Amino acid sequence: MSDIENLERDITSKINAAENEAALEAVRVAALGKKGVVSERMKTIGKMTPEERKEMGPALNGLKIRVTEAIEAKKAALEELALDARLASEKLDVTLPPPDLPAGKIHPVSQVFEEIAAIFSAMGFDIAEGPDIEDDFHNFTALNFPPDHPAREMHDTFFFEPKEDGSRQVLRTHTSPVQIRTMMSRKPPIRIIIPGRTFRCDSDQTHTPMFHQVEGLVIDRESHMGHLKGTLEAFAKAFFEVDNVGTRFRPHFFPFTEPSAEMDVQYERVGNEVRFGQGVDWMEILGCGMVHPSVLRNCGLDPDEYQGFAFGMGVDRLAMLKYGIPDLRDFFAADARWLEHYGFDPLDQPNLATGLSR
Ligand code: PHE
Repeated sequence: MSDIENLERDITSKINAAENEAALEAVRVAALGKKGVVSERMKTIGKMTPEERKEMGPALNGLKIRVTEAIEAKKAALEELALDARLASEKLDVTLPPPDLPAGKIHPVSQVFEEIAAIFSAMGFDIAEGPDIEDDFHNFTALNFPPDHPAREMHDTFFFEPKEDGSRQVLRTHTSPVQIRTMMSRKPPIRIIIPGRTFRCDSDQTHTPMFHQVEGLVIDRESHMGHLKGTLEAFAKAFFEVDNVGTRFRPHFFPFTEPSAEMDVQYERVGNEVRFGQGVDWMEILGCGMVHPSVLRNCGLDPDEYQGFAFGMGVDRLAMLKYGIPDLRDFFAADARWLEHYGFDPLDQPNLATGLSR
């Protein structure tokens, strides 16, 4: 066996034995580096006789090329192995919570919005929204508040400065204007809930100038008061997470519904706690009624053809009742300790299958 073959066998076995890129680099330097064995042998070509050179030149060149190729192939293989090892070690289970969880909490108002949305979306409602700044038409007129009627004052409205034409925009006093916007832009059947901010000039332990409502609206050809009651009773049970809760519908007045009612739910006070679905006391939680024919007409719907019901509830109050929060003003105080105590885990999405509030 020629010594070139020996040399090649020797280098090849070192290449094969290299376990990582650093070891392979050492083999490369030892063979092909400036002082490497192959390079040293190449230098001898200059001193050879023409005959020797004719034979040894191509042989040494061939050796150099094969060694170079073998090192490159091994390098590629090692890189692939390194990548595989890295991919295996950096494997991430994306279903696990991040290791250092952010300390953030979900505000009780957001939580209750989500709970209400989960309940009504299971009943086939979708969500509609509208602007916080409204005009008189959507907030009052189209909802059948007569001009200059004291009902407009009843809402303690925040009015903007009058425009040149004398009209005044308002901060919406309820989410009901979105009923109007929806009926004017969509054909029935309509089945929506409307979450949003609302504003009234009022402030004490149970009132803040900005608060939150969820409105409901159903318009079709046949929905009647029985559907209204069934829907809201199902809502009350689901929301308070009890098997049964007594409800009571008391006649009331709203300009935009006829007949109108307030719904009370059965509760009992045990110590500081309010428990729903037991006891003999009643707590008012929402207003409701059959959509007034004039409202339908104002939205271009024929009341002989279409009918339906609406309801509206105060989200902040529901959050206080359900989660035993004593003062409404704390909701908006931006106190991180309060939120830490009353807030909810961002990873617990309210849903009916696993329980709204866990
Ligand atoms: N908009 C009424 C309020 O803010 C609530 C309501 C909505 C009543 C829909 C009946 C129907 O007081």
